[in-house]
Amino acid sequence: MRVTITGTPGCGKTTVAKLLSKVTGIPLFHLSDLIRERGFYTEYDKKREAYVTDVEKLREFFKDKEDFIAEGLVAHYIPSDLCVVLRVNPSQLPKRLAGRGYSPFKVAENVEAERLAVIATEVFESPRAPRIAHIDTTDKTPEEVVRLILRCMEGGEVFEEVDWLEEQGYSHKNP
Ligand SMILES: Nc1ncnc2c1ncn2[C@@H]1O[C@H](COP(=O)(O)OP(=O)(O)O)[C@@H](O)[C@H]1O
Ligand SMILES: [Mg+2]
Repeated sequence: MRVTITGTPGCGKTTVAKLLSKVTGIPLFHLSDLIRERGFYTEYDKKREAYVTDVEKLREFFKDKEDFIAEGLVAHYIPSDLCVVLRVNPSQLPKRLAGRGYSPFKVAENVEAERLAVIATEVFESPRAPRIAHIDTTDKTPEEVVRLILRCMEGGEVFEEVDWLEEQGYSHKNP
């Protein structure tokens, strides 16, 4: 089975993917490592302190693979059987990103991206998987998140509601 795990940095992709690979035995690919090591990038974005992914090369790499877990913030660009979108309350992100050496700019950018659901919106607007799981990791342990993903891999549906705009009182829906 082909599983992709995406989400804002700090949402728990790497932690959850390692655990999922351990319990299922499905080979795991950390996309940030893969992209850097194989040169699947077009340039280095200094301001964002990140490589700009060459999506075509990345897709080519996974094209004939039938069994993989791919985790990273570009995972949802890879066609798969199940795309898992992890979410986290943005108020928790600075804590989760602590110790990474990110600049205040980069932390703030990620908080804003999660608040505005940038990655989730990309997945919903251009799905590259027949099934999408949407999981709020805020009050869950990595083990609980893995259990939900396993349920999806067995055909179940997990689609949790989150609205960080509403939560923080910024919603335009209820002025
Ligand atoms: N479900 C969770 N609950 C609490 N903390 C978590 C959870 N998942 C991950 N973390 C912690 O958050 C931090 C970021 O997790 P990580 O897996 O590196 O995120 P990502 O790979 O999405 O950037 C780590 O310190 C990790 O231990
Ligand atoms: Mg990671």
